[in-house]
Amino acid sequence: MEDTPSVEEKAAITVGLDTWHTVALPALGIRSIEMADGPHGLRQQAEGDGDNLGLGNSVPATCFPPATGLASSWNADLVERIGRALGDECRVAGIDVLLGPGVNIKRSPLCGRNFEYFSEDPLLSGRLGAGWVHGIQSRGVGASVKHFAANNQETARMTVSADVDEATLRELYLPAFEHIVKTEKPRTVMCSYNRINGIPAAEHHWLLTDVLRAEWGFDGAVVSDWGAVEHRALALAAGTDLEMPGPQRSSVDDVVAAVSSEELAESVLDTTVARLAALAAHRATPLASFDADAHHDLARDAAAESIVLLRNEGGILPLDPSRPVAVIGEFARTPRYQGAGSSQVVPTRLDNALDAIREIAPTEFAAGGPEAVALAERSETVILFVGLPPEDESEGYDRTHLNLPADQLELIAAVAAANPRTIVVLSNGGVVTLEPWHDSVPAIVEGWLLGQAGGGAMAQLLFGLRDPRGRLAESIPFRLQDTPAFLNFPGANDHVLYGERIFVGYRYYETVGVPVRYPFGHGLSYTTFDYADLLVTRASARLTVTNTGTRPGREVVQAYVSAPDAARPRRELRGFATLDLAPGESRTVEVPLDARSFSKWDDAGWVEIAGEHRVEIGRSSHDIALDGVVGIRGPRRKLLTLDSRMSDFLANPVIGPILRAASAGAMDGGTNLLDMVKSVPLSRLARFPGVGDRLKSLRLLLPVANNRVIHFAASFFRSLFTSRKSRLRPT
Ligand code: GLC
Repeated sequence: MEDTPSVEEKAAITVGLDTWHTVALPALGIRSIEMADGPHGLRQQAEGDGDNLGLGNSVPATCFPPATGLASSWNADLVERIGRALGDECRVAGIDVLLGPGVNIKRSPLCGRNFEYFSEDPLLSGRLGAGWVHGIQSRGVGASVKHFAANNQETARMTVSADVDEATLRELYLPAFEHIVKTEKPRTVMCSYNRINGIPAAEHHWLLTDVLRAEWGFDGAVVSDWGAVEHRALALAAGTDLEMPGPQRSSVDDVVAAVSSEELAESVLDTTVARLAALAAHRATPLASFDADAHHDLARDAAAESIVLLRNEGGILPLDPSRPVAVIGEFARTPRYQGAGSSQVVPTRLDNALDAIREIAPTEFAAGGPEAVALAERSETVILFVGLPPEDESEGYDRTHLNLPADQLELIAAVAAANPRTIVVLSNGGVVTLEPWHDSVPAIVEGWLLGQAGGGAMAQLLFGLRDPRGRLAESIPFRLQDTPAFLNFPGANDHVLYGERIFVGYRYYETVGVPVRYPFGHGLSYTTFDYADLLVTRASARLTVTNTGTRPGREVVQAYVSAPDAARPRRELRGFATLDLAPGESRTVEVPLDARSFSKWDDAGWVEIAGEHRVEIGRSSHDIALDGVVGIRGPRRKLLTLDSRMSDFLANPVIGPILRAASAGAMDGGTNLLDMVKSVPLSRLARFPGVGDRLKSLRLLLPVANNRVIHFAASFFRSLFTSRKSRLRPT
């Protein structure tokens, strides 16, 4: 008979053993497991003290493109393949859980860690994050979806409170996590450093238990971000099963004390122990080695799919490999290929674009300065590599502007002035503005951060050996001031107000009509595509796409929905599909839609929005090619009570028209009284002198208003009377 572990022994396993390992509990057959960072490569620190900021050395591993680049592929299957490869590298290294993917929404382009996140859109983030989790867990290695939740800045990340309403959380900041939890059952979820409406995420019972577990059905373990736990017993009660890193003697004592004082039920501790036992019970089949060359090739394929061709005036790209080319900029020789902080990988090898271009075409190189300008002047074509230096963006701090460094801007101006055939290639984790130089060059290629094989991929794309497939997963604004979070980022006094609500990224720009340099979803190809024969239903959008050009290419068909509700974003991404088409090839594609596609979060749940929804097929969030209409009945009407607001009464097909008719002309110095009281519950209105009596008749109408059959009759009879409006007008 196994001896029953003591409270002390049980409490001990809810805190890490060291930076990367958990505590074993042999009495319950619980082994110590090892975790390591991701997400875009394995960062396993050699023996000895580890750190959670990538400061120390780590074992060489394949550095795939960070999420900011990978997201531009819009290809969940590709991300899944990378997940499988990462899983194999973890199996060789003996890692049980790889800490990723990061699926936080890019609320502001200033966030220093945006290189590690996918998108401004939750559907795209969720689908790609799900691919990562599916891939890695298919190899027996656990994932840790992070950072749960509303961790959208690095400034004061351990203390700041994200002050955000529930509808915004539900519609924008939680859906990526929700999709992954419901479809992929990740082994762990990592709770974030920040507070949410004043409560530390690690101690947020609503978030970690009511939503994550009770609503979404999560049955894995919640692990804290490293150093995110302040009060261990409170965090455990809220649903944080494992505090990392360890050891934390005070935390174990805190839990033991809470159980002995009965502040914490021992059953809660036992539930956490059971979760940690289940986590430790998973053990991936070890691998002796992984094919580093094959993983490098996969990294190159991924990099190629992550590159976005933003501008290609006159079709200057692809270049002719038989013609000489000037390569300018240190980034061509010394690539910037990943972000700094906990995700920083020591690559197995590192390509650079200069060497790769030299293998394709006659090449001259200059790093910068007058040598570069002189080379530009005497060259036929220039490829200019610029971008953000590593110190400009990192985990742990945010940017304060969106500009390229001054020396890079000067180099662009000088080289573009010296040679009109200048192609700018960007390396950056977060979005940069392309001003004021955008119009001075015919071609711009957004290379993001592309991992260890990005240099080779970029060279192949520039010379047409690969076709550009990327589409923006984040809008590129003209100016920082145009961004929706501009006035509320990064907040002050440890509070940041999510005042823009769900109007983040294209949801804001398209609704408010703020022009951007390049919209979410934008990306050029070396060929062209035509859309036709759109058929929309509430279950899907089906259309035929044709490659109308002379080169093979990939199209990313984006399905947006525009709801019949002026208070909502102009359009929202509700599905997408990628097609690889040969020249002249046509294919019919079906983009699935679902109830959520036509819904909003309304007080206590998701409700379909009644009315005609416009389903829009776009080449981007701004460039809509086809559209169709889907009629949505909407939810059964809200049952009216005396506590219902006047707005609910006005929306009711029986009482609404009566109220409007009765109040028509009820102006008070130019103000419509009804508008003034729309948000007031009837029961409150009735407390005003003289009003209660007149509202008594409404009480009589409640049963009528709440009975659908009579709704129909009422609407029928109303239709008879609407022509005689005067009859209903008050005398
Ligand atoms: C870091 C990061 C988290 C990482 C963890 C371990 O501070 O926020 O993403 O997985 O600590 O390094």
